Amino acid sequence: MACLRIPATDLTASIRILGSWLSGRYAHSDLPKVSFQEYRKKSVAHPNVSAARSADERRVRATLSSFVFGVATMYAMKSHMLHYVLFMAPSRDVLAEAQAEISLDNITVGKTLVAKWRGKPVFIYHRPQAIIDQERKVPLSNLRHPESDEERTIRPEWLVMIGICTHLGCIPIPNAGNITGGFYCPCHGSHFDGSGRIRQGPAPTNMEIPEYKFLDNNAILVG
Ligand code: FES
Repeated sequence: MACLRIPATDLTASIRILGSWLSGRYAHSDLPKVSFQEYRKKSVAHPNVSAARSADERRVRATLSSFVFGVATMYAMKSHMLHYVLFMAPSRDVLAEAQAEISLDNITVGKTLVAKWRGKPVFIYHRPQAIIDQERKVPLSNLRHPESDEERTIRPEWLVMIGICTHLGCIPIPNAGNITGGFYCPCHGSHFDGSGRIRQGPAPTNMEIPEYKFLDNNAILVG
């Protein structure tokens, strides 16, 4: 049987290489080590001083910087949000239109003033006592959209409502139609009574009452 013979010189060389490898000679240990010393905090850089000695100081600094950063972030967010909120807020001319102050001085009994509010006509009807009595006697069971006259007025002599027909949006004519002291829509023949309630024709509901209040005996604020 053939026997593998390794020359003694080769074996010695192999052992030397293995020893060098194990000792790290071929593990790039000859590269210069990178020093991060200048990036270390001074308080923890000294090799003989315990980092625990400066822990409180570092904690205070970290807390303070977090607080300042947090406040700055919240302030920036507030400014950013405000920008969007103000952008979406109604402009001054829209706000001016949101409410309308209307004088009642020149509306004689039986007359209807047509004012404008938010681009819509508002009827202000100074009702005679006969019309008030007539509307207050109407049984709710006779009405398509049952609402009492008391519900629709703050002061009985004044009817304030949006002057738009609830059928397809035409503007009814005051003091016209089949109901005495009522309103008539010429578009498709709806008749509203002296309280603005639908009594005949295709309109499905009564004319709308806007939000309003009396400022005094001679003025109202709509909106
Ligand atoms: S819009 Fe008034 S009846 Fe049709």
